[in-house]
Amino acid sequence: MRMYDLIMKKRNGGELTTEEINFFVDGYTKGEIPDYQVSALMMAIYFNKMNKRETADLTTAIVDSGEVVDLSSINGIKVDKHSTGGVGDTTTLILGPMVAAAGVPVAKFSGRGLGHTGGTIDKLESFDGFSVEVSIKEFINNVNGIGIAIGGQTANLAPADKKLYALRDVTATVDNMSLIASSIMSKKIASGADAIVLDVKTGSGAFMKEEDDSFALAQEMVDIGTHVGRQTIGVITNMDQPLGLAIGNALEVIEAIETLKGNGPDDLTDLCLTLGSHMLVLGGKADTAEEARKILQGIIEDGSGVRKLKELVKAQGGNPDFIDDVSLLPGASFIEDVKAPVDGFVEGIKADDIGIAALILGAGRETKESDIDLGVGIMLEKKVGDQVKKGDVIARIYANDTSKVETSREKLLGAYSFRDREVIKPTLIRGVVTKNGIEKY
Ligand code: URA
Ligand code: CA
Repeated sequence: MRMYDLIMKKRNGGELTTEEINFFVDGYTKGEIPDYQVSALMMAIYFNKMNKRETADLTTAIVDSGEVVDLSSINGIKVDKHSTGGVGDTTTLILGPMVAAAGVPVAKFSGRGLGHTGGTIDKLESFDGFSVEVSIKEFINNVNGIGIAIGGQTANLAPADKKLYALRDVTATVDNMSLIASSIMSKKIASGADAIVLDVKTGSGAFMKEEDDSFALAQEMVDIGTHVGRQTIGVITNMDQPLGLAIGNALEVIEAIETLKGNGPDDLTDLCLTLGSHMLVLGGKADTAEEARKILQGIIEDGSGVRKLKELVKAQGGNPDFIDDVSLLPGASFIEDVKAPVDGFVEGIKADDIGIAALILGAGRETKESDIDLGVGIMLEKKVGDQVKKGDVIARIYANDTSKVETSREKLLGAYSFRDREVIKPTLIRGVVTKNGIEKY
């Protein structure tokens, strides 16, 4: 088999066989096929697409490029959750403890962040001493003991995806549905999840700007899950503005704690209750999403969600006292107000640019090697639809290095748009996709 022939076939609109897909994924993982040939193939796939069978085969080939985590010694149905990427997305820190408190085992492998703010692991490291360097045995013991563990992604989990994603990232071939779907689903399947809830973002801050494309992406992933015997649900959610109010690591941890206590922003709370409900249904703890939502609301009200977060932090070496006294978390020395330049209504807040404004302050990584400052970030005071008067505070910058504040402020102001007429607040939850089809709200 020759890579040249595969590229030519796809370039001419042909369909790759299972053997051909296995051949290029295996060859690329082993370093036997060069980047330039795989990038040519990715571009051919970008233009000529893959059908469902090819997409499922690509997913399986990526899973088989590394090890599959064996979580069979964990009792119960392991339900994982994945978001297609958002700015200031704190949901895992809230959902994990909430769902675990409801009795669904949470065995999660998370990553560090690149760009924007940190990943879930970076955020958890705001708790002094917290570590994801636990052995798989300890990890499983923790899930069986307290219902939750968060580990780091091992190097040998879907290694083909690491190479392919990095290559796509620099060759303008990320935003193809089959490629995104196989990339995400391969990692979830290799992580040992029995069932998967996907938060598929739509809007200006998402890969898929158009709602129809987001539904189609969700359908693609649900089909892959169904094909490999993992129940999968996709929830389509709006990303026309950042989620919640906090963007920054420790700031998002505080927001997560507040949300677990019932004092979180409405959109973040609603999203967590919605995703969590589906997780409980898939995990066999409720018959309907409505019933599940009541259970989760009870977990917020009786404080068992925030107690579960404490247990998690303690089990992985972190200081749980930080949860009762958030002033112990990494902080910022300077807080600067950003004010509305005009009277009117907030029309849009470009999530990506808010992410960059936080990155400039040091909340995210420019490169894999960069250090991040866990204490800095941005708190939004006004969101889409809010009325403002010129000079009202629309956001606050939390900084430790004053020389970075002006550039961040410019980016932040540029992310906001205003208009003089009333703006309708966007609906967060747009619909769900299950193996039975699409339901739009
Ligand atoms: N997230 C992933 O993990 N892979 C993609 O291709 C896109 C988003
Ligand atoms: Ca947030």
